[in-house]
Amino acid sequence: MTYVITEPCVDVKDKTCIDECPVDCIYEGARMLYIHPDECVDCGACEPVCPVEAIYYEDDLPEQWGEYTQINADFFAELGSPGGASKVGLTENDPPAVKNLPSRAEDPAAPGV
Ligand code: F3S
Ligand code: F3S
Repeated sequence: MTYVITEPCVDVKDKTCIDECPVDCIYEGARMLYIHPDECVDCGACEPVCPVEAIYYEDDLPEQWGEYTQINADFFAELGSPGGASKVGLTENDPPAVKNLPSRAEDPAAPGV
């Protein structure tokens, strides 16, 4: 099991979650951040600090964000398990489902605006 970051993070990237994670397993893509499903130790510290409530325990994901478990995992298809996000930094690995979302600026009705 793991915690999962979902769509409200897209184009927001508040990053308060990063400061809370004891194992540095929250990685940055161009449009959102992703939790490494194998490196996360399920401590839950990140979940309450996200101002847009983008983070959920895998079992508690709202139905509308169900696909984000796979999307978080897909982000790491090329990266593998680097064992620390700070040394990886910003990447362009957003999976297509995230990359192709309308930008918040173009879609004022998008959640989180
Ligand atoms: Fe995103 Fe929330 Fe973290 S907006 S970067 S999941 S604090
Ligand atoms: Fe880190 Fe959140 Fe997992 S703080 S260990 S990503 S539950």
